[in-house]
Amino acid sequence: MQELCFAQSAAAQMEQLVTDLRRMYQERNDALQEVARAHHEALLRLSIAADFKDDDTGVHIVRIAYLAQALALALGERPAWAKLLRQAAPMHDIGKIGIPDSVLKKPGALTPDERLVMKGHPAIGAEILGRSRIPLFQLAAEVSMTHHERWDGSGYPAGLAGEAIPLSGRIVAVVDFFDALTMDRVYRKAFPDAVALEMLRAERGRAFDPRLVDAFLAKADAMIGLRERVNRQRPSFADLMD
Ligand SMILES: [Fe+2]
Ligand SMILES: [Fe+2]
Repeated sequence: MQELCFAQSAAAQMEQLVTDLRRMYQERNDALQEVARAHHEALLRLSIAADFKDDDTGVHIVRIAYLAQALALALGERPAWAKLLRQAAPMHDIGKIGIPDSVLKKPGALTPDERLVMKGHPAIGAEILGRSRIPLFQLAAEVSMTHHERWDGSGYPAGLAGEAIPLSGRIVAVVDFFDALTMDRVYRKAFPDAVALEMLRAERGRAFDPRLVDAFLAKADAMIGLRERVNRQRPSFADLMD
């Protein structure tokens, strides 16, 4: 009888322990998620600050996010990965926070030394974003590091060529090029869409992966429509994070 009582109370204690552990585990997960979200938000705000140094509207990085996701989906990539790329892409130029305005905002051509300074932004960005085990920041660091590589191997910083350049970097390179051409810059007015599409086609197999250029051109109307939608609706900070 006594043994039975003991067994019952041991079972009850065990059950309580399991319940407590489950609750602690849940609380730990919630706390980790909160830390990751705060980390994401801080980095996104830094990216917006970097974008403001370069474009006075700060919307370029938002358009890049949605265009990169759309191009990934057009290529048949998994929706979950396309979404992760949408979240990572706005941070592609976070490294520009480390580039002096005298170089970043210089109207006209850069000197060789200034060009070297400018070419440091992918690595500065990867440094800011890196050293995280969270897949989003790993992908964002990869994008930062590789979005100025060129398909023909003449890009920077590593001079990677072809499929040695991660797909994430190849996608962001294409949408970044198109979007940058079709917006006003300190040193020139925006190019018309048709001209920008022609310039993209001219870089097929040179700066950019031919498969990606073909996919972008095939969906050009939808891409331009998406860009206009972003310009009109200005997705919120929360939209960018979710
Ligand atoms: Fe860049
Ligand atoms: Fe950009």
